[in-house]
Amino acid sequence: MDVATKEFYDQYWPRFVPIYEETKKYMLRTITEPHVGRALDAGCGHGLCSIVLSELADQVTGVDISTDSLDTARQQVAMAGRSNITLLHQDLQSLDPALKDFDLVWCWGVAMMAPDPMKVMHNLMRATAPGGTVYLGLYLRTWLSPVHQLVRHTCRTFMNGPRRKKLVCDFFAGLTRVVCRLRGEEINRRPDNVSIQAQVEDWYYPPYKTFYTPDEIIDLFRRNGFQAECIQDRLGRMKSATIFVVRAVKTAG
Ligand SMILES: C[S@@+](CC[C@H](N)C(=O)[O-])C[C@H]1O[C@@H](n2cnc3c(N)ncnc32)[C@H](O)[C@@H]1O
Repeated sequence: MDVATKEFYDQYWPRFVPIYEETKKYMLRTITEPHVGRALDAGCGHGLCSIVLSELADQVTGVDISTDSLDTARQQVAMAGRSNITLLHQDLQSLDPALKDFDLVWCWGVAMMAPDPMKVMHNLMRATAPGGTVYLGLYLRTWLSPVHQLVRHTCRTFMNGPRRKKLVCDFFAGLTRVVCRLRGEEINRRPDNVSIQAQVEDWYYPPYKTFYTPDEIIDLFRRNGFQAECIQDRLGRMKSATIFVVRAVKTAG
């Protein structure tokens, strides 16, 4: 069990639940299946994606490593009045083999946060039913990725107490505001998230992060019996060049 990531999100999602309507708009723009039988929300966090999926699927299973996030998800599901969602505590690196035959697997912003992201991706492919679809959102590797990793390690090592973390988040939020103003851009480009500080914390403080290119992920899917394409490259839910999304359909059993 990846305890470090569990602890990070235990304190994160209960404080920063995104805006449901914006999450829903993004997902309905992204998912092309009008209706499916069983859906898996892999790394469901706050639970909002599970609620959106519950409108498209007969049954939804949301899994997450963070028990406190799952409590937040339970509250959100209860508030939405959905009865076709099951929430389970699971590490996707060792996903229960009984969780399988999903027609749709949604895994956005999750797999690359595991110490071993390949284990997560193989488990997602295994859990997909023949003919089923995976939507996988991962951090994009660019020339800035090593700089990001250096800043993240520095923040986690030297600036990890509550007051220091607040200083870091306020500093980067201020910097973002200045840069956006100079460029004449919108300041918060992610409409479903609550604050720039929250986004900075989610960017610089998770314990593990790996960056990928769309080509290597498409190749991974193809080698495992999927047809895959990159459907969003830098223009998705976070319009800031951080996540790309691959859609992959399982063609082999
Ligand atoms: C950035 S959040 C994304 C949440 C949600 N998928 C969304 O799109 O808004 C990452 C989530 O993945 C969960 N997570 C990270 N590693 C995990 C693992 N190995 N197994 C299960 N959940 C994991 C975290 O607890 C957190 O809730």
